[in-house]
Amino acid sequence: MSSLLRAENLGKEYPLPKGVLQVFRGVNFEIEAGDVVAIMGISGVGKTTLLNLLGALDRPSEGTVYLEGEDLFARNESELARVRNRKIGFVFQFFHLLPEFTALENVSLPLMIGGLERKKALEKGASILAEVGLGDKADCLPAQLSGGEQQRIAVARALVNEPKLLLADEPTGNLDWKTGEHMLNLLMDLHRRRGLSSVLVTHNDKVAQYCRKRYVMERGELKLLD
Ligand SMILES: Nc1ncnc2c1ncn2[C@@H]1O[C@H](COP(=O)(O)OP(=O)(O)O)[C@@H](O)[C@H]1O
Ligand SMILES: [Mg+2]
Repeated sequence: MSSLLRAENLGKEYPLPKGVLQVFRGVNFEIEAGDVVAIMGISGVGKTTLLNLLGALDRPSEGTVYLEGEDLFARNESELARVRNRKIGFVFQFFHLLPEFTALENVSLPLMIGGLERKKALEKGASILAEVGLGDKADCLPAQLSGGEQQRIAVARALVNEPKLLLADEPTGNLDWKTGEHMLNLLMDLHRRRGLSSVLVTHNDKVAQYCRKRYVMERGELKLLD
């Protein structure tokens, strides 16, 4: 297998009112095409910060990330936005759906942003909405849906552009146990069917079964578990 995403010597600090907060440094990370990797670690340790760098939502203080061999952070903001839109799907802990748009519009939006005409975008959006089992909820607003349903919409939105890489930040973190299990099964199913490479930040031990590699973030370092 070849490496799809590779982070080298990644470091991130945030400015504080006085000085800086060094979240981590010297982080090396790699995911091969088709693989599933888990990132674990206690709250506040820097998992979201790392995922945001892997997905180019934020820039590192040092080091860089290569996606298909290309240095992501050598790009300017508009190029980065295009790479994110085309190649990376994100699922967030708190869903991050747009409240004033319907389920179908939320799912189709990345396609329209990518330049597809509205009618075609809605058609494709509808097909992936059906794939996550929510074809009958297309016209609902997020507030009319359960947490599990909202997260399925978010998964459909993340995958509508057929990205190679799926980054999910505690995708079951705000779901009850059973709904979380369903979500995990759905993600693993989509992972296989769509030939994704997936990085899951999670506390759920069950994820470990699916993963060839598990990392844990601890005291500013990312360690590979065996
Ligand atoms: N934008 C920010 N500015 C300053 N500090 C931040 C910012 N985002 C996160 N942090 C801090 O960085 C550390 C890691 O946060 P985070 O990556 O969200 O951890 P986790 O996802 O593992 O819970 C925490 O101490 C958090 O308070
Ligand atoms: Mg987090």
